[in-house]
Amino acid sequence: MTKRTAVYPGTFDPLTNGHCSIIRRGASLFDRVIVAVARDTGKKTLFPLEERVAMARESLCGLPGVVVEAFDGLLVDYARSAGASAILRGLRAVSDFDYELQMALMNRKLCREVQTVFLMSDFQWMYISSTTVRGVAGLGGNVRGLVPDAVLPHLRRAYGLPETWPHEQ
Ligand code: COA
Repeated sequence: MTKRTAVYPGTFDPLTNGHCSIIRRGASLFDRVIVAVARDTGKKTLFPLEERVAMARESLCGLPGVVVEAFDGLLVDYARSAGASAILRGLRAVSDFDYELQMALMNRKLCREVQTVFLMSDFQWMYISSTTVRGVAGLGGNVRGLVPDAVLPHLRRAYGLPETWPHEQ
């Protein structure tokens, strides 16, 4: 039987529990999910590529069928070279739809063999993004429970926060 592989792409600056939820649910639908960490998405990132990959690996290790890789260039080229039949995306709210539709249609124009598959985000993760997590952590706020525990020391170092961070409020 052919193994079904999906690519879950993103900047992951850093990986959040919202991403992890989509990855876990994707792993129940596909034989293999490749979490593909983009080198350059036009965003100025807090963490360098290597650290974004490391945080995702530390957070997702032990999850069967899930691997983390870096990629650059076009997503569809990467998906094809990885033998993926699908690009996995999460939808948090209606506001995500326009951008996702545009991206899915462009990717389909570039490569018809790779389908984009959407999962609705769980209600509890609707409001988080990597930017909101960085914004709160950067001001010393508590983001425990919004990101995997493995991400916390990376945020602490990046923002020079005390060893006692994050404190419960
Ligand atoms: N839970 C929590 N947050 C989520 C989420 C979820 N389920 N899904 C998305 N987000 C957040 C992300 O963290 C990100 O936050 P940020 O803007 O604060 O960084 C935001 O929502 C947007 O996410 P996403 O749309 O996945 O953007 P991205 O920057 O993480 O990834 C790529 C964009 C990598 C998929 C895209 O730029 C790409 O494919 N690049 C390769 C080049 C290419 O092929 N270009 C042509 C594409 S048509």
